Amino acid sequence: MSIENPVKRLLMTVTQGVYVVGVGEGGLRNAFTASSVMQVSMQPPMLAMAVNPDNASYPLLVEGGVFAVTVLQHDQCALADFFGNHSARDEDKLGAVAWHAAPSGAPVLNEGLSYLDCRAVSRHPAGDHVVILAEITGGDFLQGRVRPLRYDEVGDMDGSDELLPEHLGIAGERSEFPGRS
Ligand SMILES: Cc1cc2nc3c(=O)[nH]c(=O)nc-3n(C[C@H](O)[C@H](O)[C@H](O)COP(=O)(O)O)c2cc1C
Repeated sequence: MSIENPVKRLLMTVTQGVYVVGVGEGGLRNAFTASSVMQVSMQPPMLAMAVNPDNASYPLLVEGGVFAVTVLQHDQCALADFFGNHSARDEDKLGAVAWHAAPSGAPVLNEGLSYLDCRAVSRHPAGDHVVILAEITGGDFLQGRVRPLRYDEVGDMDGSDELLPEHLGIAGERSEFPGRS
């Protein structure tokens, strides 16, 4: 993996996971890969997620008002790639994997590490994304204790190397960056 953009390398030092977010509304279901997910409140348990409104999933999320975050295992890069580089506009992604509905009705990948069931409570524009604040209404472990997949381990799978600016006044790295080959 060779990441040359210094802003991308800087952001890769911020620890993030990689998730598949299932959405549903009426009879329609879909799922997409997301790395911009974080816990933001304990009482009640809440998370924030940044979603590109151009995703085919976005209207289903807004209209359904619920989503399920499947946490991927460390060796599930292929699932991240599949759900993150294919769109429901072109294919039925959920038709290719085993999934079940969370209590909210949103799809959960059976092979994930764990899942969080969520109810969206507000939306906040954030640049080219929309931040969704959501209450965590449930969830469970799907596998035993295995390590989750980290965003810095998937390289430039999301193509953000090209989207990010290259200059934020970064002077340089202290030592060789692990994501650089
Ligand atoms: C590693 C990775 C991380 C991603 N993170 C996000 C994210 O946090 N938010 C988002 O809206 N899209 C993210 N994407 C892009 C969507 O997964 C991608 O646009 C997907 O094709 C949308 O699917 P849909 O059109 O079926 O909804 C990510 C993609 C990858 C590969």
